[in-house]
Amino acid sequence: MTPLEQAARAAQHAPSVFNTQPWNWQITGNTLELFADPGRRVDSIDPDGRLLLLSCGAALHHARTYLAAAGWSVTVERMPDAERPQLLARVTLGHPIPPDPESTRMAAAIARRRTDRRAFDDRPVTEFELTKLRRFVESEGAYLHTVRPDQVAMLAISTEIAAGAELDDPAYKQDLHRWTARPSQAGDGVPPGTAVKPELRRVPVRDFFPDATAKLEAGAAHDQGAAYVVLFGLDDEPKNLLRGGEALSALLLLATADGLATAPLSDAVEVEWPRHLVRGLIAGIGEPYLVVRLGYRHDRQPVPAAPRRDTADVITTTR
Ligand SMILES: Cc1cc2nc3c(=O)[nH]c(=O)nc-3n(C[C@H](O)[C@H](O)[C@H](O)COP(=O)(O)O)c2cc1C
Repeated sequence: MTPLEQAARAAQHAPSVFNTQPWNWQITGNTLELFADPGRRVDSIDPDGRLLLLSCGAALHHARTYLAAAGWSVTVERMPDAERPQLLARVTLGHPIPPDPESTRMAAAIARRRTDRRAFDDRPVTEFELTKLRRFVESEGAYLHTVRPDQVAMLAISTEIAAGAELDDPAYKQDLHRWTARPSQAGDGVPPGTAVKPELRRVPVRDFFPDATAKLEAGAAHDQGAAYVVLFGLDDEPKNLLRGGEALSALLLLATADGLATAPLSDAVEVEWPRHLVRGLIAGIGEPYLVVRLGYRHDRQPVPAAPRRDTADVITTTR
């Protein structure tokens, strides 16, 4: 298998909204092209495709990280062709270089990373760790705000309002059904074994199964040590959202490599009024992309892996 094929395969592990994996890869010679798949957009919550672009950005960063760890230089062009808006990025393979140590740590976390929706432990995430994560996010072209203790209630209220509004929307309920009741061969969507039963939480976690069939217990902890961070960018331009997704991947992989559990939360930014409230948490200096809960695992049992699409459906190689 060529390095580009391996990179596209590594990117299959990337997180995506509702586990839609809304991307395809085309390999031609020494180039790897990333395409968005708008048919996999979750229209009721993502009509503009912001979450789709964040998801594709995460896949792009996974591929880049694999190549940097495997010791390859690459050139990345984002949105290289205005005539083809679905072509999000072109990665051109360069020459062998010494493997980058941080990328090597992050690449080792790719297959291990999971969205863990259970409650995290009382052990706090340190300032040092949060500063390190912020630096990485900034180096990927996005920004990170750590929600202050006095802001957590506002985040919780914003999420609560968004979740309530969404569950009242028949189109959302249809999307929820579409992406949680998948045939097993689809290799996508959110299975009950990875979703958490609804419980009183510091900040609510999306209820993927309002019919009460989620399998995971939130556990005995209460997210007391969890840190909530808002990933944001200067605007909602597609290129910045793509870079936001790359920054999200860097954040999640580095946190995983450092022993943290992670869980993205996007409900609050999907509905206009709560989104406005979250914008307030970052003092209106940019557009919030999504929130991530970070913390230490209380329950040591690993969370089951969410399914992934067959690589043959996602990666095309032209020789
Ligand atoms: C843009 C984006 C938004 C997401 N929003 C949520 C969310 O609101 N709630 C949630 O529990 N998980 C959310 N996730 C996590 C995905 O559901 C998760 O990545 C997917 O189901 C695959 O599982 P994995 O991360 O364990 O590989 C989001 C992920 C991305 C990339």
